[in-house]
Amino acid sequence: MRYITIALAKGRLAKQSMKILNQLCISCDEMEDPDTRKLIFKDEKNGFRFFLAKANDVPTYVEYGAADIGIVGKDTIVEEGRSLYEVLDLKLGKCRMCVAGPDSAKELLNNGSPIRVATKYPKIAKEYFLNKKHQTVEIIKLNGSIELAPIVGLSEVIVDIVETGSTLRENGLAVLEEIMPLSARVVVNKVSMKMEQERVSKLINDMKKII
Ligand code: PRP
Repeated sequence: MRYITIALAKGRLAKQSMKILNQLCISCDEMEDPDTRKLIFKDEKNGFRFFLAKANDVPTYVEYGAADIGIVGKDTIVEEGRSLYEVLDLKLGKCRMCVAGPDSAKELLNNGSPIRVATKYPKIAKEYFLNKKHQTVEIIKLNGSIELAPIVGLSEVIVDIVETGSTLRENGLAVLEEIMPLSARVVVNKVSMKMEQERVSKLINDMKKII
C-alpha cells in the first residue's frame, strides 16, 4: 500500500498537531526523540509517513505532491499562495496577523503617510496596505524578531503575528490594526484529494471528530 505522507510545520505547531494525529492512532514514537536527526518517520501499521519541515516549505511539499497532506498555519498558507486545498481549521495555535508599532504610529496610519513596514510576511503586508487600504508603503522583509524594527528606526510599523501580545508589550509596542485571525489548517494536495480520496477523507473526518 502506498504511504500517505503528512508534512508538519516545525516549531510551535508540531507538538500540538502530533497530539491530534496520536489521538487518531497514527503514532510514531521515534519522532518524539529530541536527539534524533532522522527526517522522516513511518507508521507502518496505518500506512502513514510524516516529516517535519520549515513552516514556509509545507505548502510547497503539498503543492508538488511530495506530501499528500500538510498541517500549517493560515499565515503561511496565505503568504505562500500555493495551489492546494485548505480543508480543515484545527483551531490550534490561534493568533492574529496585525499591524503593530508605537502609539505614535497610529497617526501615520490614519493619515495615509508613506510609511515603512517591516515584516516576515511581505505578501500579506502588501495585499493589506496596497490593495485593501490603498496606502503607499515600503515593505521591508525581515526573518525574525520583527519587533526590533520600529524600536531601532528601521520602520514605522510592523506586520506580524500576535498571540499573547507580550512580545509587543515588553517592547513598548501595541496592536494598531488587525489584518486577519490565524490558526492551524489542514491542507491537501489537489491530486491526492482525488486519487487517495477514501483515505484522505477518512483522516479529515476523524480529525473533525476530535477538534
Ligand atoms: C512570533 C511573532 C512574535 C511573537 C508573538 O515570533 O513573530 O514575535 O511570536 O507572540 P506573543 O504575542 O505571544 O508575544 P516567534 O517566537 O515565532 O519568533 P520570530 O521572532 O523568530 O519570528
